[in-house]
Amino acid sequence: MSSLNVGVLGFGTVGSGVVRILNEHQDKISQITGYDIAITKVLVRDLSKARRYENTGITLTTNANDVIGDPSIAIIVEVMGTIETAYDYVVKALQAGKHVVTANKDLIALHGDHLITIARENNCDLFYEASVAGGIPILRTIVNGLASDHLKKVMGIVNGTTNFMLTKMTSEGLTYNDALQQAQALGFAESDPTNDVDGIDAARKMVILTRLSFGMNVSLDDVSATGIRNLTVDEIKLADQLGYTIKLLGISEETNGAVDVCVTPTLLPKTHPLAGVHNENNAVFVIGEAAGETMYYGPGAGELPTASSVVSDIISIAKNIKLGTTGNVFNSYVHETNKLADAN
Ligand code: NAP
Ligand code: HSE
Repeated sequence: MSSLNVGVLGFGTVGSGVVRILNEHQDKISQITGYDIAITKVLVRDLSKARRYENTGITLTTNANDVIGDPSIAIIVEVMGTIETAYDYVVKALQAGKHVVTANKDLIALHGDHLITIARENNCDLFYEASVAGGIPILRTIVNGLASDHLKKVMGIVNGTTNFMLTKMTSEGLTYNDALQQAQALGFAESDPTNDVDGIDAARKMVILTRLSFGMNVSLDDVSATGIRNLTVDEIKLADQLGYTIKLLGISEETNGAVDVCVTPTLLPKTHPLAGVHNENNAVFVIGEAAGETMYYGPGAGELPTASSVVSDIISIAKNIKLGTTGNVFNSYVHETNKLADAN
């Protein structure tokens, strides 16, 4: 069987999960793709850090060119985070003809259109399933599974950290700071959790979801975002006593040909399906003209759930390489009243 080499940028929570899943599920993955997929090089910042991995075939490096410039590597997986550095590396990788998988919603929300253009110019695949709702395959579902429908509304709990915090504050009466500390210790929160608690992380995910759901070329400036920083345990308890749950929702809704997008703490009746989504779990509730109400639920963050989405993207690329059909990206139709950079 021929081999397909992968270079990974970043060896933190998600990168470690990618290494683990590719190792542990390699027989199945080889059977599906027809390739022995191997991670050969991983970019890190600090070579002296202790790492959990047993694959001796991996070389660690602090020089991005060792990975991106390696002609034996066909696929680059960007799981390091950051915006500008990741952007530079992903552009270089695509221009070098490498297919790219990224879990980086910040990168895709801000530079997705441009990266899609570069991917297509170079006949490369670019997938980013893990960028929204971690382990839930929501982007594939919207782009493929719901392709025939006319979507009217998408509501999501798309930030695991804040959902975990709200759950702990509601059910265990934890303070905001204690709940945040637990989310950080469990690896859900971003290294700087400001974007989680202020709704920016959710807003970036809603930009990606809105583009794919409605064919609208929205940007972060189009999303009004309020986080949970000012919510008190007393407010959460009062809502609970009145039969409501407070959730940080991203809401994207089409009205009269335009789409409104916001992120805001929302009072949900406890009977609403989204009210039953607890801890770091995410869920996306979609209303379509034809399918009606559907909901997609699962872990929105964490090592293995997130890595499973990344590895599924690697598998999609491997299949495309096998079939000679590369040059694919997640993309949407273009809504008649708005322009998306490109359409599939
Ligand atoms: P992380 O645990 O902080 O790991 C980041 C890794 O990237 C580390 O190995 C770090 O190296 C390396 N790195 C960072 N900046 C670098 C640079 N300038 N040069 C070289 N290496 C660099 O992050 P993570 O939680 O795995 O998240 C990675 C990406 O996935 C982010 O975009 C995040 O938003 C996204 N994501 C995360 C989750 C989750 O549950 N954690 C879920 C969905 C999406 P060192 O190890 O040497 O410090
Ligand atoms: N910090 C993010 C969250 C990680 O809590 O949802 C997953 O994108």
